[in-house]
Amino acid sequence: MPTNTECNKIIDQLIESRRSIRKFKSEVPPRENIEQVLQAGLLAPYASPGVSQEDFRRFIVIPRESKATAQVATVFKRQVKYWSKNIEAQMETDEFLKKHAGPFLGRLKMMGEQGLPNIGKAPYYIVVAEQRGFPPAEQLSLAHCLQNMWLKATALGLGMQLLSITEQLDKDKEFCDLIRIPVGEYALDGCVIGYPDIRPPMPKRPNLNEVTEWIT
Ligand SMILES: Cc1cc2nc3c(=O)[nH]c(=O)nc-3n(C[C@H](O)[C@H](O)[C@H](O)COP(=O)(O)O)c2cc1C
Repeated sequence: MPTNTECNKIIDQLIESRRSIRKFKSEVPPRENIEQVLQAGLLAPYASPGVSQEDFRRFIVIPRESKATAQVATVFKRQVKYWSKNIEAQMETDEFLKKHAGPFLGRLKMMGEQGLPNIGKAPYYIVVAEQRGFPPAEQLSLAHCLQNMWLKATALGLGMQLLSITEQLDKDKEFCDLIRIPVGEYALDGCVIGYPDIRPPMPKRPNLNEVTEWIT
């Protein structure tokens, strides 16, 4: 067993070197690596009393070469167009959206025309499905799961990009059928994984002292 000091050093290294990777090499990482990433996700905590202990979380792996990839791309394009129309309509009356939603809407519109940049490019698209419970906490559980997966992927030399638009497809019949999930019973999140082609530099973070209050 590594000592506490060794563990501490390793976890610091992983946390600091994790990045959002948005450009991937075409080389496909081995299936065993992906299974290790999923295992790390399965070990993440889950919430909500009432959800099944056996079936609280499911993973759906769509390799780039799968026949399903083209269908995923089409569903995404449709969803992105639908979502941007909705946001545009809401921006007419909602002051918060009017002020803040512009840049996001711009990105959505671009994706509606060009498709999602890494669907069909990154070697794997992975959807994680979390059973809904009450009180609702499935999106929080998904965040824990994806973070575990992200750190494990980093440890294996893999890159990961969240594709949080996956969340919007939880009630889409075509998508749920494709990933073999009953419509409405699970919340969704997703990511793409592969070997990083471009590794961005350390992103800027504020100084810890500037964002921390100790109430003594
Ligand atoms: C809830 C959440 C959703 C995100 N969704 C996306 C996404 O859909 N696509 C993407 O490229 N990055 C997404 N990101 C990544 C952020 O843009 C990224 O974490 C941030 O720019 C900081 O960069 P870093 O991840 O390299 O530290 C998301 C991050 C969070 C926390």
